[in-house]
Formats: sequence, C-alpha cells, structure tokens
Amino acid sequence: MSSRTSSPASRVARTGGPPSAVSYVEDVSPGSGALPPRAWYATSDADSLSLNGSWRFRLSATADAQDDSFAAEGYDAGDWAEVAVPGHWVLQGHGSPIYTNHLYPFPVDPPRVPTENPTGDHLRVFDLPGDWPALTEGGAVLRFDGVESCARVWLNGTDIGEFKGSRLPHEFAVGHLLKAEGNVLAVRVHQWSAGSYLEDQDQWWLPGIFRDVTLLHRPAGSVLDFFVHASYDHVTGEGTLRVDSEVDGRVTVPGLDIDVATGEPVTVPVAPWSAETPRLYDGELVTEGERIPLRIGFRTVSLEDGLIKVNGTAVLFKGVNRHEWHPVRGRALDLETMREDVLLMKRHNINAVRTSHYPPHPAFLGLCDEYGLWVIDECDLETHGFVEQDWRDNPVDDDRWTPALLDRAARMVERDKNHPSVVIWSLGNEAGTGRGLTAMAEWIHGRDTSRLVHYEGDLDCRDTDMYSRMYTFHDEVERIGQGLDGGTERRRRLPFILCEYGHAMGNGPGGLADYQRLFEAHERLQGGFVWEWIDHGIEDDRYAYAYGGDFGEELHDGNFVCDGLLFPDRTPSPGLVEYKKVIEPVRIEGDGSDGTVRVTNGYDFTDLSHLAFEFSYQVDGFPTGAHTLAVPPLAPGESAEVELPAPAPDGKGEEVQWTVRALLAVDTPWAGRGHEVAWTQKTVTPRGPLPAATGARPEADGDRITLGPARFDARTGDLRSLGGVDVTGLRLDVWRAPTDNDEGASWQDDTRYGSLWRKLGLHRMQHRLESIESGEEALTVRTRVAPAAADVALRTVFRWTSDGTRLRLTVSVVPEGDWRVPLPRLGVRFGLSAAATDSATWFGSAGEAYPDTRAAAKLLQWDASIDELQTPYVRPQENGARADVRWAEIGGLYIEGDPEFWFSARRWTNEQLDAARHRTDLVPGPTVWVNLDHGQHGIGSQSCGPGPLPRYFLNARPAEFSFVFTETD
Ligand code: GAL
Repeated sequence: MSSRTSSPASRVARTGGPPSAVSYVEDVSPGSGALPPRAWYATSDADSLSLNGSWRFRLSATADAQDDSFAAEGYDAGDWAEVAVPGHWVLQGHGSPIYTNHLYPFPVDPPRVPTENPTGDHLRVFDLPGDWPALTEGGAVLRFDGVESCARVWLNGTDIGEFKGSRLPHEFAVGHLLKAEGNVLAVRVHQWSAGSYLEDQDQWWLPGIFRDVTLLHRPAGSVLDFFVHASYDHVTGEGTLRVDSEVDGRVTVPGLDIDVATGEPVTVPVAPWSAETPRLYDGELVTEGERIPLRIGFRTVSLEDGLIKVNGTAVLFKGVNRHEWHPVRGRALDLETMREDVLLMKRHNINAVRTSHYPPHPAFLGLCDEYGLWVIDECDLETHGFVEQDWRDNPVDDDRWTPALLDRAARMVERDKNHPSVVIWSLGNEAGTGRGLTAMAEWIHGRDTSRLVHYEGDLDCRDTDMYSRMYTFHDEVERIGQGLDGGTERRRRLPFILCEYGHAMGNGPGGLADYQRLFEAHERLQGGFVWEWIDHGIEDDRYAYAYGGDFGEELHDGNFVCDGLLFPDRTPSPGLVEYKKVIEPVRIEGDGSDGTVRVTNGYDFTDLSHLAFEFSYQVDGFPTGAHTLAVPPLAPGESAEVELPAPAPDGKGEEVQWTVRALLAVDTPWAGRGHEVAWTQKTVTPRGPLPAATGARPEADGDRITLGPARFDARTGDLRSLGGVDVTGLRLDVWRAPTDNDEGASWQDDTRYGSLWRKLGLHRMQHRLESIESGEEALTVRTRVAPAAADVALRTVFRWTSDGTRLRLTVSVVPEGDWRVPLPRLGVRFGLSAAATDSATWFGSAGEAYPDTRAAAKLLQWDASIDELQTPYVRPQENGARADVRWAEIGGLYIEGDPEFWFSARRWTNEQLDAARHRTDLVPGPTVWVNLDHGQHGIGSQSCGPGPLPRYFLNARPAEFSFVFTETD
C-alpha cells in the first residue's frame, strides 16, 4: 500500500491574487514544491546534517521589499545580522512579539494580510561533511520541522518551493542541487500569510524558523513512508504487528523473535503499552538502502460501550493542555526542556497531554511514548478570530481552504502516526464548524482506523468520536455524567471529556477536587485537561516576565497568556501541587478510628506493587518516625482495609496526626524510589483549647494603656507593642489584591467579584473608632468598618485580655446593611519591623492554600523566609496564604489561633500588591505586613470558567475569632 497517493497535499490547487513575486503569501494553498508528508523519525543509519545554528538574517518591513538576489550563490551577506535557528527573530532583538488571545492583529480580510508584513531573509552556507556519501549515491531531502508562518526556500539559487503550516514538517528533494562545498540555503520567512488565518491560537505571534532544519541523505532504496500498526488483544494477551512500508523491506524485533517482511502481520504474546506501563519493544525497519530504529508499543484504542478504551479498559484522563514554551526561546524548545515537561507531568500524576493547539516538536511524542502519557495530538488549526463576525468567511466552511486543511491534517497524521502515545487525533481548536472540518475528520478516519477523532467545536459530534467541551460548570458536567444533557442521538452515545478546564491563570485554579469527584463518580466522564501547562511569560529585565501589552502592541490580551500550572521558568505553581493531589492514583480513606484505613487502587492498568506505603504520626506537626503499612498489591479498582501499624503516641496535650504516604518502591525512569505519589492525613488527637489569658487589668499610663505585656495608644485604642516587639496598624482587613480568577473574564456574568468589590469600595474601607472601654478584665475597642458612599458596614469589636504574659485578642464582626457580595477575606492585619522579621515558622499547611485549592494542604511544622512565603504570580495578586494554621511565629511573636487561621506575611501591603502589574513593581518596605485571616473567599476558575462553588463563598455574616500573642525570647 502507499500512503503517498492518499495524501491530499498533491491535490492542492492554487487560488489567489494577482501574480507577483510574493503572491504565494496570500494564496490559500498550503504551498508548492514540498514532498508528500510521511512518518517522522529521529534517527536512521542514513547520514544527516543538522543545519541548526547561526544564520545570517535580514529583516524587511514588507514581503516584497527585497528581491531574491540574496538567494544567489556568491551573495555577500557579511553585513547582515545573525540569528539562532531554531528561533524566533522577535525574541532575538528584531521586532517585537505580539500577544492576542483570539483577535487577529490585522484586518480580517481573508486571505489578504497587511502590506506591513515583517519578512526575515535567512541565509546559511554549508559544506557537506567529509564522510557524506558521494553526491551520485541516492538523493537528499531538506526538512523544515517548523517555520512561522510562511517560507520560500532556495538552494544554490534554485527556488525549491514555498509552504505554510507553521508547526508541521515540510520536506524538499534537493539531492540534485547539492554540492560538496559552499551550498547556499536561503529561506525567506513572512510573519503574515494566508496561513495566519488558520493559526489564531491564543499565544504569542512569533515568526521565525523555530524548529530544526535538517539535510537527510536518502540512499537508493531508502525508506519513504511507513506505518507501524501494533495492536493488542487484551483477551489473548497477544500483539499483532504489521509495518506497512512504501519501500519493501523487513521488520525485526529481536525481543519478540520477529523477523517479517513489511506488510506481513505477525501475532505474538507481548506486554502491552499504556501510559502507566509504557512498554516499548525495540525493532528495526530495514530496506535495501536504510535501517530505521523502531520503538513499538502494542495497544488498541477503541470506542466501546460508549467509552474510550485502551486495551479493553476505559481510561480516565488526568490531563493537561501543553503549549510549547520557553521564557527566552519561545516555541523553540530543546530536547531537555521537552523532557523536563514530561518528567514534571509524570511526577505530578498527570497521565495525559493535549498538544494544544498544534502538533508539538516530534521529539516530544517520542518522550511521551517512552515515559508514558496519553496524547491527544491536535492539528495546527484555529480560526477563532472569525467569531467577531459571527463566523462569516470562516475558512473551515469555505471549500477554497479545504486543501490547506487537508494538508494540515495529513502532515500531522503522517508525521505522528507511529507513536503509541497518540491515542486521539484532534482536528484543531476553536475554529467554529464547517465542511472543511468534516473533510479533515473523514480523511483522518479513513487513513487511520486505529485512533479516535476529537474536536471540541463539534457539539453534535457529527465528525467526532467523543463529546468534548471546555470550562463547563460543575453542575452541567454532572448532568452530562448522568446522561441528562440531551443533545443528538449520536452524542448521547459518546463518552465525555473536558478538553479544557481549571483555568490556571494566576492564583488557582479552584474547584479541581470537585471536578475530580464527578469524573470518578460517572463512567461517561473520562476526565479532563487542565488549561494550561505553563505561563507564556517572556523573560524581560524590565518586568521579570513580560506579557501582552508589554511590547506596545496595538491590540493585546494582557496576562491572559500567563495561565499555566508552571511559572515561565518551569517552577511548579501551587496549582500544580494541588492538581497532583487531586488526581493521585491511590485513595486512602477513613479516619483510622477503627484501627484501619481503606486503600483503593485508582490506576487503570497497574497494581500497587510498585508502591511502598509509609505510615507515621506527628506531634505538634513534628513526625515521630515511620512505619510500613502493609498494603496488598491491589489490582486496578480494588480496595482493601489495611491495619494501622502502630497505636497513637501520647501527645501530652499536643495535637497528633497520622499520615500515610504512598511512595515509589523502586526507581522509575521519571522519579526515584521514595518519590511521593499519594498521601492522606488525619487528626487523631485534636489540640487543646487556647489559654483564656485573663487576669491582668488594663492600666492607664499617660497617653498609653498597658495590659500585661502590651501597650496601646490611649486615644486610638491601637496596639503599639507587645513586650519589645513594636506593632503597627493592627486592624480589621477585608481586602485582598484580586486574583485573575476574582477579576473574571470580560465575557463572564455579573459575578466578577474583583470589580464588584472595588465598586463597593472594599479596597478603601474606613475605620471609625466608636469607643475604647478599659474594664476590669479587658480593653474593648469598638469600631465600624465601612466604605465611603455605601451603607454597608462591619461592626467590629476588639476585645483584649492578658494573663500578664500572653495577650489575647477576640474579634467579633457583625455585618450591617444589605451585603450583596462576599468578602474577599476577613481577619486582622498588622505591621512588624522588617529589620526584625525575615522568616516565619508555623504549624499549618506547608504550601499556599485557599478554600477550594486546599486538597494538597498537608499539615506540618514548617518555616520559610518572608520571600519564600510569596507565590510569585507573573501578574502580582493575592497569594501565599497558609491554611489551617494553629500557630505561627514571626518577628518575635508567637501567635496561636482559635480557631485555626489563614496566615500570610509580605514586605508590602495588600494595596501595593493590588497596584503592582509585574513582579518588579513589588518593592520591599520597612514593614512586614502580617494577615491572620478567619476566612478567605474561594478562588474558582472564573478567569475562563466557573467562579468558586457557593460552598466556598465567604459571605458577610457574624463571626468571632481569637488569637493569643506571646513574645518569644
Ligand atoms: C480556550 C482556548 C485556549 C485558551 C483558553 C483561555 O477557549 O481554547 O486556547 O484561549 O480558552 O486561556
């Protein structure tokens, strides 16, 4: 069989404007001159020459500013600049990047693009290596793995073609043009082209040759296209291998004793491939002229009983959407960065990736095969900007563009079809609906019957094999899970995935655990993919990380481009830590009061024998030594009651918890033995009540009032010091610097609390002193806290008592008036001298947590510098709260809470945090500001999804909470 005749690329017809040297730029065709698409492979025994490196570079303002004389041999480019290939010229000092979410940064006039069309001429002169085969032996192919957005190529003065399809490979036959020395490769790259209309993904517009350029020797009889079909029959335990190759040859797999002709099927017992057990068999495809290493994974993907199954088992996707990103190199990623992504995913229990919204560098898929990740491979297609005109003229519903769409589908499928990790093809993202998409789906289904097809925009599932949505609210997801969502007959029979959810912009996303509960409760819900993997911040001296608007763009979408689970430098954000906990593959349940816990294997394919379970008690947050918990090697889905290995220690009045941790028992390729996979924690002995701290009497002392170790301002009632610790500005605080999720997105409804809070004036509360009462036992300060221009208020009473050593504060808050919005936070804040406050120790959650992002809030005794207490969101906002804090020690004070409190401390006020636009705006002052909160509003995901669920609201209602302060020595 031959895939090459089935490729639609050759059927492409040119349409377009007036003939000119650059008419191809606005031509809807995918290009001309390139070879048909075929399977991509990293290595073979045929020679290859990387043409990556430093290239000569000249930038022009328009597509036709320069003629093609630079492509001629002998052209002197000595005075040109240089750029690194792979790379984007706008990240190398030539022009600027532009960020828009869905708006085209040029007039929508398809297929025309602006006259101002940054055009980069690239030039590279190369010799063939000394051991390169004689030029008469076979041919050669020049491969471009990715060029944005349109390129025209000359080799040794000969025009060899032009192409579009930025994140897709293009190959040209060049053997007849090569010389031993002094080959001149000239590539003209246009930022804008007709192809740009198909590439309106929410990301930076970054022109350039951003993936590898390689010259491949093609010996006579070398491999052309080949398709590895490797299925697995879970009933017999056998795999069937058949490698179809355009050029006949043999296939060998020594580990399976396979040595067959291409095209010939062979069935043998095998271990199957899955994301959990990524068993690959090394083999070889040998034709007369070439040997190509194969990495074969046997697996069968099916749609059965309305479910996506692999090897007969329904899978639950715990996924993430991955754009390619590096804060310096943009989308030009090296292998190590790709590997880091895969390792980080595996270490955080992620089992699936959607390659939003284009096929990634092919090496990434090799890593997914090797380490084990389910992949939805998505085509390089998005036309979202047409939504602005109700999808009129949408290229996916215009037959003139269909050849380009089919070309893109073919280049993806042909390139990636030999990766076992790819289980689903996706037609693209946010491109509306239309005949072109149907044509793509039909072509893909015909070419590859071994995988399923996805496209979120197809609400009727006319072309797709699953019902897919994005940012669907929890209640609707639940209805879908219950099959109560209606829709077409076909859709009702299909499984459901959330191809995007949990918008990880800034602080958040909240509500992940609530989604996971639904996924686990309803079979039809086969999981989801958090949006998204990494913040696309650009390293920039001015701002630490730049985002939309920082390059003077005419149109931009600000920091909407920073919505990942990783910061731009790949440091995990608290959102990733939360996600890891929410999707952990082992459930450990029960409080242990009957001496047992229930352990459930949540993997789809593996038993638990690769895990060791560690059990430990902690007293006042300090571990007391570990025991082994004897958990049987449960099969997927099985549960067992497991006995706790040791009785609880006597906490001697301190709080006692136990923690069970599931750790890797052996080294794996992605993490070492001892790596924590899952955990749970329960309190056995709660802590005792806080001291009443009464007995001392407030004494007037000039303009001061003393109470035990504390001194207050007699006129204002403000606490001034406790022993030797100066305290400033202690008052009720309800303001937090709105998070991106508080602010919500412009298209969201009227529950965008960031702006509602501001409108009400919660960021400018006035504190009116009503009375100071110095009684027998207590100093009582009554205040009314309210914003100007409104009649809502919080009547707040501060009641101070002391036993001579300790100082106790009880705060009572009673709302007045008609509160229609929840509070951002509720607690007290005060300032301590920064000179005396560089770190804190506390017993509470080790990391950041909020009401709906607290699944991973593991209780521990912990310490951190004030700087480490900050979560450095690219756009500064509320961050860093520690949950369930029993006590904290900071700046010479030991503070206990009743009940537990949310603790944060920073070198700036919440107002300064609110005003900051970039990390570099945050400048430490002389004061460390401490917040002790009784409540925090939930986080939600409203920057592109639902806000917090009602149960995470901090509604204004009467509240009372206490703290006991003691000076430490
Ligand atoms: C989706 C889109 C993504 C991204 C996200 C918001 O609608 O598919 O590309 O824009 O919203 O960050």
